[in-house]
Amino acid sequence: MGISMIKRYIFGNPIETDAVLSKPEVCAWSNDRLCFRENALECELEEDEIVYGLGQNVRGINKRGWIYESNCTDDPQHTESKHSLYGAHNFVLLDGEKKLGIFVDTPSKVVFDIGYTDYNRMRIALQTPDFELYLIEGESLGGIIKEFRRLIGRSYIPPRWAFGYGQSRWGYRSAEDIREVVKNYRDNQIPLDSVYLDIDYMERYKDFTVNEETFPDFEKFVAEMKGQGIHLVPIIDGGVKEEAGYDVYEEGREKGYFCKDEDGKDFVLGVWPGRCCLPDMLNEEAGRWFGRKYKILLDQGIDGFWNDMNEPAIFYSERGLAEVFEKIDQYRNRNLDINSFFAFRDLAEHISNNPKDYASFYHNYKGKRYCHEDVHNLFGYYMTRSAAEAFDELSPEKRILLFSRASYIGMHRYGGIWQGDNNSWWSHLLLNIRMMPSLNMCGFLYTGADIGGFGADATEDLLIRWLSFGVFTPLMRNHSALGTRLQEAYQFGNIDLMRDVIGVRYKLLPYLYSEFMKAALRDEMMFKPLGFVYGDDRIAKHVEDQLLLGDEIMIAPVYEQNAVGRTVYFPEPMKLIRFRGGEVQEEEVYTKGYSYVDMALGDVCVFLKENHILPLADGGQSIAEVDFDHLKLHFYGDHVRPYEYYTDDGEGRDYDPDRFIKMLEA
Ligand code: GLC
Repeated sequence: MGISMIKRYIFGNPIETDAVLSKPEVCAWSNDRLCFRENALECELEEDEIVYGLGQNVRGINKRGWIYESNCTDDPQHTESKHSLYGAHNFVLLDGEKKLGIFVDTPSKVVFDIGYTDYNRMRIALQTPDFELYLIEGESLGGIIKEFRRLIGRSYIPPRWAFGYGQSRWGYRSAEDIREVVKNYRDNQIPLDSVYLDIDYMERYKDFTVNEETFPDFEKFVAEMKGQGIHLVPIIDGGVKEEAGYDVYEEGREKGYFCKDEDGKDFVLGVWPGRCCLPDMLNEEAGRWFGRKYKILLDQGIDGFWNDMNEPAIFYSERGLAEVFEKIDQYRNRNLDINSFFAFRDLAEHISNNPKDYASFYHNYKGKRYCHEDVHNLFGYYMTRSAAEAFDELSPEKRILLFSRASYIGMHRYGGIWQGDNNSWWSHLLLNIRMMPSLNMCGFLYTGADIGGFGADATEDLLIRWLSFGVFTPLMRNHSALGTRLQEAYQFGNIDLMRDVIGVRYKLLPYLYSEFMKAALRDEMMFKPLGFVYGDDRIAKHVEDQLLLGDEIMIAPVYEQNAVGRTVYFPEPMKLIRFRGGEVQEEEVYTKGYSYVDMALGDVCVFLKENHILPLADGGQSIAEVDFDHLKLHFYGDHVRPYEYYTDDGEGRDYDPDRFIKMLEA
């Protein structure tokens, strides 16, 4: 991989984020590529230079030609016109004559103008003059990533069952609803390992409560589901309902654990339950207190969670509400003309996630008071870290599933992320594909998008094509929003195709788990852009819709409606392995160059490199049924290299590669 070198610089007096684990010595600032002026780092970009990185954000794998923000944002419209999503991942990787990784470590907003104002320049503008900067030079892209990942620490490892297929929907209201979902999956013999509990399982949307009317005897219900091979995964929200007598609220208030407003009173914001307070996740003691609350659900047999609304999302503040009501009054009895009508109509539009609100409350972080806007990007990170650190104590032997919506680099050590509220759009399937390697660069390995799309109505073909890609993503979850078309795999006419496609996941599992674990333990990427391996191939470098998955295979998903196949670029000879109708077919070897490959709806195709091995299992209805020991090896070529197969019990927290990796020979 060649040698990589990290240099660390400090500007001003930065706020510590805990993104970096072991810090190298500080260097005096001087650099022949980047210049620092007016709170911004600037550099020229070469004509053909690719800029990778930024983890969770809109647009392509190559980030060039747009302006992006690192500013955790709750915005369900992931259109090209946007600049930020839920995560803040301030890492870019320049792939030009020389390769350079850049990590700007600061908890407030950063704007990356990557060839937007001027196609040949990059400008990284900071909200603050106080930040840490890490520059990583190296000969290979993979080498730089490895060095960066060593710096920020090992990625989170979930239990193996969390690699099974999961069903979710905002709108499952009762244990009966959940039983019905599971019954439909089992009756149709579509594999399933988990069902997610969205906000409706709670009593009036209160964290760590269960609605006893709709979910009577929850502990027994959790056990009943386990008996059917199903893990239930409840949601936990960032805001705590303000309600007299609700113990979590009362305790938080008495102990002073909530974020404060300017006057030192508990800051109040509106989210699902109405008025809420925000636990000060950044405060060690408050975080520890909040993390220990997960025990309430762990004690009832729960072993996985998803943390939501932790940008944090603010529907409204008291200030914002008052402002809107006051303005509405000013329009009463007026003749609303073109200007005033639109102004009137937009009055409530900016009430949610308003920067004024983010500037109006405070944290007590590492012994100092900070305005939220200065540490904004750390909220989801510390919420998830609080839970993970509690799990270390509460469940030292067994891994717990945990993923979050908001994140910052560093959070990847404590949990995964899902890609937020996408839509049932073909373009969002493509966005999902493109985000995988960018997230992997920043340490987020356990990730996936809402398969089938969260908002809007899914069609059968979209769901099938999305599942045909989703079978590869570590988090494979079908999730949809309240009010949208029902999207469980059995809701559509072609159940056979759904069963076959989801079934592919269970054949691939030994390989996927093994590649995931090696990527985590070796600080590598599970999903790589082609340019990471075929850097000398100018065509490969610019491919935006194919990925390398581990070291053995390439994937090229279909993401267009009514397509019956697609053009694939082969950077070297590869053999097509096609999953169709529950069978695995070895097909032709494609030579280097472009080829059109037929891919009917329901086909899952992988392309195997010459002299490499793809191990496959027989499959099963859940992970427990998958035989990880007896695998069928697919390979071709005269000098097949052994496959390094990682397998463990899937539960314990010991990941010693010497014990768990064995060589599979052709
Ligand atoms: C947020 C989440 C979404 C969830 C909804 C209701 O929008 O991102 O996944 O279904 O809240 O809890």
